[in-house]
Amino acid sequence: MRYPFIAGNWKMHKTIKEAALFAEKFRKLYDSSVTDVRVAICAPFTQLAELKKAFEGTGILVGAQNVHFEDKGAFTGEISADMLAETGVDCCIVGHSERREYFGETNETVNLKLHKLFEKNIMPIMCVGEGLEQREAGEEHQIVRTQLVEGLVNIAPEYASRLVIAYEPIWAIGTGKTASPQQAQDMCGYIRQVIEEIYDETVADEVVIQYGGSVKPSNAAEIMNMEDIDGALVGGASLDPDDFIEIVNF
Ligand code: 13P
Repeated sequence: MRYPFIAGNWKMHKTIKEAALFAEKFRKLYDSSVTDVRVAICAPFTQLAELKKAFEGTGILVGAQNVHFEDKGAFTGEISADMLAETGVDCCIVGHSERREYFGETNETVNLKLHKLFEKNIMPIMCVGEGLEQREAGEEHQIVRTQLVEGLVNIAPEYASRLVIAYEPIWAIGTGKTASPQQAQDMCGYIRQVIEEIYDETVADEVVIQYGGSVKPSNAAEIMNMEDIDGALVGGASLDPDDFIEIVNF
């Protein structure tokens, strides 16, 4: 079943102490009896266990921002899905454009990571999206299609229907320049169509699609009201509990 889902991506921000302060304030602001929106905070690794503890009993999910696709081994600086699972995390971002751009993430590694996360019962938030040059060249649909087709190789339909896909046009990330609600809707509708082509209508109906890129309290409602947009992946505006709750309660 599709559901509204708003996740914060803290990227490389906050210490454990700062995360605990956020959680203390945010858990008072968030009332799951008032909103049907599911909420997650995707934080740096060191904060995950602390956040899980701080959000206990609130329904607020906690996520990581990356994972390695092997179970263990000589991979200095990496973290395994078992290590993440041990902290109690619920979800994990995969294929964020910053990881694709700066850390060599490819559609192939995204695919391997999706397989591993599903195997370990951690819900992946799979990011796709085009750069400015690609949009200006009219290639955005092709780019996103390839990211989906290659990223989802051999992912079974029962897993795919539980997938969260975040459409994040790179030109709208951290730039203050949001895609217009119509631009975001067009691509999220297209993503649903590609999922239907890869799988079927049932899976396409169930997959949760978020928009990400300069989402803030002032534009959350019009983005969330678009037909194929089920949620948001929020960077900068998720760092402040007052801003983030306004987005969640759009
Ligand atoms: P901003 O909301 O800061 O533009 O970041 C978006 C993003 O990259 C979320 O993953």
